[in-house]
Amino acid sequence: PVRVAVLISGTGSNMAALIDAGQAADSGYEVSLVLSNIEDAGGLAIASAKGVATVSIPHKPFGKDREAHERAVDEALRAAGVEVVALAGYMRILTPWLVRAWEGRMLNIHPSLLPLYPGLDTHARAIAAGDAEAGCTVHLVTEGVDEGPILGQARVPVLGDDTPAALAERVKTAEHGLYPQVLTSFCKGLARA
Ligand code: GAR
Repeated sequence: PVRVAVLISGTGSNMAALIDAGQAADSGYEVSLVLSNIEDAGGLAIASAKGVATVSIPHKPFGKDREAHERAVDEALRAAGVEVVALAGYMRILTPWLVRAWEGRMLNIHPSLLPLYPGLDTHARAIAAGDAEAGCTVHLVTEGVDEGPILGQARVPVLGDDTPAALAERVKTAEHGLYPQVLTSFCKGLARA
């Protein structure tokens, strides 16, 4: 199976969905490392409980030197023999250095129907715009934030009385279905290449 690292900063619900799907027979990938820039990210304990190796590399000690932090992240990925990186609520904007190092092998999930609403507060923006539909996008990571080629999307309705939190929850449920499915076909494509 293709060795995947999942990068998180928080809850890790997408990470958990990716681990579970990877442990199913015939998925074509396995999550072999979960890496966080936040030492007490909730997702780290969940990953450990599922038997997946974890590492936290806090960005704070590196101050303004974003690349130095990324070099430490990259080293941990290489040391673990990682082939594909899946960002899942990793709340750091990457420098071109790390993006280039993993070009074509780094995926991200974003909580909107890109190209709509790159960046933050996607659910509040979709509600404010009066959109009838919202959703999530899995895309390849390129230097432009939330701009890479789209690999898959899932849609959910926006309801009349939606709050950003209620919509976020509905979108997250869709994310948990979409991300493992896209990662599975991405890794199967790599194996054939
Ligand atoms: C997810 O909704 C993901 O799409 C979003 O953060 C959440 C992480 O939740 N990502 C971004 O906003 C990226 N800019 P999780 O930790 O429970 O997977």
